[in-house]
Amino acid sequence: MKIFLDSANVASIKTFADMGILDGVTTNPTLIAKESQGFLELVGEILRIVTGPVNLEVVSQNTEGMLHEAHDLAALAPNVVVKVPMTSEGLVAVRKLHKEGIKTNVTLVFSPNQALLAAKAGAGYVSPFIGRLDDVGHVGMSVVEEILQIYRNYDIETQVLVASIRHPIHVVEAAKLGAHVATMPSDVLEKMVKHPLTDIGLKRFLDDWSKAGLKLPERRTLEAKTRGLAGN
Ligand code: G3P
Repeated sequence: MKIFLDSANVASIKTFADMGILDGVTTNPTLIAKESQGFLELVGEILRIVTGPVNLEVVSQNTEGMLHEAHDLAALAPNVVVKVPMTSEGLVAVRKLHKEGIKTNVTLVFSPNQALLAAKAGAGYVSPFIGRLDDVGHVGMSVVEEILQIYRNYDIETQVLVASIRHPIHVVEAAKLGAHVATMPSDVLEKMVKHPLTDIGLKRFLDDWSKAGLKLPERRTLEAKTRGLAGN
C-alpha cells in the first residue's frame, strides 16, 4: 500500500520524505489555508521535495472553472494529480481531463455508488473519507471494503485512496483490505514509526552498554584490525 502524507506543511513533508517512506502527498483547500504562504510558492516547494503524486484540489464549483484550474495545476509538474469534488459538475470535468491524459482524484466520496460513478467517469483515484463517516456513526472502512470489492469485480483500474484517516489502526485496516493508497496526517505517520517497546528496548541497550563502561574502538584502530584480519 502506498503511503501519502495528507498535509501541505513543507517541514513535515521533508521529514517523511527523508525517511524514504513517502510515496506522495494529498492537500485540500483547508490544509493549504493552514500554511502561511502563497499557493504557488508553497506548491513549488512541495513539488521540489516530492517525486510521487502531489494532489492539488480545484476550488471552482462549475465544470468550466474546474477545467481551467485543472489545466493550470497540471501544468505545474507531471506528478500533479488534480483533486475534483464528487459532484455532477466534477464528474463532467473528470471525464474531460481523463480524455486529455490528466490524472484526477475524485474527493469527498462517502458511498460505494459515488466511487463506482467516479471510476466510470475516468478517475485515477477515488478518495473515501473514512474518518468523517466514523464521525457520523457509520463504519468508514466498510465503504472502502465495498468499493474494493466492486472495483475487483469489474477489473476497474481506479485506485482506492483511503482518506480522512484518524489513527494507525485505520492504516492497518486499509492495508489488510488491499487499498491502493492511504493518506494520513503527520501525527498518524509519527505514531506508526513509534512503539513504546522500541523506546524501552533501546534505553535498556544503551544503559547496559554504558554500565559496562564499553567504548566503540576508534575508526583507525578498527580499520587496522580489519586489515589484519583480511591478511590472515
Ligand atoms: O484530504 C482529505 C481528507 O484526508 C481530510 O481528512 O481529517 O479533514 O476528515 P479530515
